[in-house]
Amino acid sequence: MKTWTRKDLTGLDELTSEEINFLLETARAFKGVGERSLKKVPALRGKTLVNFFVEPSTRTRTSFEVAAMRLSADVVNISATASSLQKGETLKDTALNLQALQADIIVLRHSSPGSARFLSERLDSSIINAGDGAHEHPTQGLLDIFTMREKFGRITGLNVVIVGDILFSRVARSNIFGLVKLGANVTLAGPSTLVPRSFENLGVRVVHRIDEALEGADVVNLLRIQHERQRKEYFPGLGEYTALFGLTKARAARLKPSCLVMHPGPINRGVEIDSDVADGSQSVILEQVTNGIAVRMAVLYLCAGGAGIPA
Ligand code: CP
Repeated sequence: MKTWTRKDLTGLDELTSEEINFLLETARAFKGVGERSLKKVPALRGKTLVNFFVEPSTRTRTSFEVAAMRLSADVVNISATASSLQKGETLKDTALNLQALQADIIVLRHSSPGSARFLSERLDSSIINAGDGAHEHPTQGLLDIFTMREKFGRITGLNVVIVGDILFSRVARSNIFGLVKLGANVTLAGPSTLVPRSFENLGVRVVHRIDEALEGADVVNLLRIQHERQRKEYFPGLGEYTALFGLTKARAARLKPSCLVMHPGPINRGVEIDSDVADGSQSVILEQVTNGIAVRMAVLYLCAGGAGIPA
């Protein structure tokens, strides 16, 4: 039986642990391509990928483009301002036109939760979710988990702490779904307004004191405050947020020496993470970005019908 039969990746919630592990193994095989002098394989030669980003992005859009080019696919980038969404065309009509232009894969970032799933159910092209509102960011979750697995050799039993604006974070949701399926112990920490107890229903621990959360942590993953999705004030001010929940130098000094400091980016230096800690020896923030290429190569390869782990 084939381990991967999906044409789309819309979230980690829908994947089995076997599928996640298969994606991670495929990404491990593709990581080697980035370490060669000729960083290219012919796996997707003749395929066309459209990067359709209706929200801003630096890492994800570039990473998908680099991943597709390393697989020898042709890549077209379009943004909201350069698309006919501006003229009143619906998302579905725009996507159907991209399909009519023979896009094999559409990578979508959109502010509406469920937008990638909506298109995946209506198009034959592969749809890859590059972040849909506060719902999921599956390739970010995968690259975070890939980085942890690469460093520790396992996910089962790892104590992973995710700190910050969980309520509005698609990165947090994808991490939670993936990590819980693979057997990690996940703790969420932040103000009660941004980390409600209802998250415990997802199989995680919720605490509202960061020092309690950081005790025994193997990984601390900091999240930015998602101001663009908040409609009211969830805490008194950034200074108070940093004092209560920021990974300051004093807090970082109490982490286990083996504890990884992670952040999906973009980072707000001096708010959720001290600038020196972001650049310090325990930080793997830029390694996460590099690993994103291999993870996205694996996702594109498998969703486009690639069979098995490439040699
Ligand atoms: N981590 C992440 O999604 O970054 P971008 O918004 O730059 O893509």
